[in-house]
Amino acid sequence: MNVYDSERMADSLEKTHNLVSDPRLADAILLNTCHIREKAAEKVYSEVGKFSSLKNKNQKLKIIVAGCVAQAEGKAMLRRQPIIDAIIGPQAYQVLPKVLSLKSDKNKIFLEFQEEEKFSKLGHNRNRALLSSFITIQEGCDKFCSFCVVPFTRGAEYSRYADDIINEAKILSKKGCREIILLGQNVNAYYGKDRYGKKINLADLIQNLEKIESLERISYTTSHPADMSLDLIDLHRTSKKLNPYLHLPVQSGSDSILKNMNRKYSVKDYLSIINKIRKKVPNIALSSDFIVGFPGETKKDFHNTLQLVQEVKFAHAYSFKYSKRIGTKADRIECKLSEHEKDERLQILQGLLNEQKKDFNKSFIGRELDILYKGKGKKNNQFRGTTRWMQTVVFDGRKEDLKNVFKVKINGAFDNCLMGELV
Ligand code: 5AD
Ligand code: SF4
Repeated sequence: MNVYDSERMADSLEKTHNLVSDPRLADAILLNTCHIREKAAEKVYSEVGKFSSLKNKNQKLKIIVAGCVAQAEGKAMLRRQPIIDAIIGPQAYQVLPKVLSLKSDKNKIFLEFQEEEKFSKLGHNRNRALLSSFITIQEGCDKFCSFCVVPFTRGAEYSRYADDIINEAKILSKKGCREIILLGQNVNAYYGKDRYGKKINLADLIQNLEKIESLERISYTTSHPADMSLDLIDLHRTSKKLNPYLHLPVQSGSDSILKNMNRKYSVKDYLSIINKIRKKVPNIALSSDFIVGFPGETKKDFHNTLQLVQEVKFAHAYSFKYSKRIGTKADRIECKLSEHEKDERLQILQGLLNEQKKDFNKSFIGRELDILYKGKGKKNNQFRGTTRWMQTVVFDGRKEDLKNVFKVKINGAFDNCLMGELV
């Protein structure tokens, strides 16, 4: 979502400012930030610190911090790092042109929640359309998982107007976009209004987007298991454009941990959704998020997570060590696990997940797949693309032979990518 937000901020400044790629040439530096785990938040201060010598040389240089770290830390951020000129929360990006033109030092803090204004003021003009582009359709969260800062930093659940989203998708498709990835912290809780004021859900919205002829692929992320509706599951079977990929974070395979996390589903509920969707789309790529070392996680709880992973068999996953976030409910639960134990559990879980990713990828060897062009690979004459299962494929070729979508025969598989040759 920060990638999308950063693009939109750059779009909103395009007419009045030039983008430069080297911070030494800039009159203003804008950092967009993530607060989800401690590591991400701490990075911001070290990044800002790196710019202090530039600020010493050029007192007019503006350093602006946007995003969830700004929202969460507020004034404290300006005290800890006085070279910051302004902070802007994730729902207030529309103030950016004003902030850049401010002469006075007094107005420094912009942390209002004005979702509707944010999207309407940032406009729909997508100057940076890529073959695969993001569209944020929903922001914020009302779920209050006990470990998570999102409800505090991104605010309450908000769904954008369906027509605005469809318009944005049409603009992107006219500029050459072939795949749209719909974004939301709770994307499958999307419930926006259409032009007649009627409420429509994610499945309805996707069906409307499918009508845009030149769009070939649609994906959505991130979903919450409690909002996984039957019509959305069924759409995976009937839709020709919806990618066979579902990112459905489970976080833990232990019912008591899920309860303490306030996730609002049990292991049985999660498995029931997985069974339903696999019945409709047997080869769907299932992806998830996991947290190990949540306060109170016993050996048995962790074992249950491994058991769930064994049962589901994921094609892709992200896994994290629990990170203490001030102000969340979980922060008040005593945590007896040492960092070493958490590290050990993370390693075991990631080992298993990596095996499963490799197994999933191996099942594609010998197949010819439609690949969407992504960019250059690491080596000379090497290129990257993506499958409809959201895997990266690396292959040799010449740029002039590559169209937007082309066929590649898969001849190798790792846990994080496929290898192939152009057909
Ligand atoms: N500690 C570790 N991981 C977290 N996530 C969210 N909050 C925390 C935290 N406090 C993870 C969850 C979520 C993903 C986006 O980040 O797995 O699904
Ligand atoms: Fe955070 Fe996702 Fe839970 Fe919302 S549903 S509180 S965004 S982990």
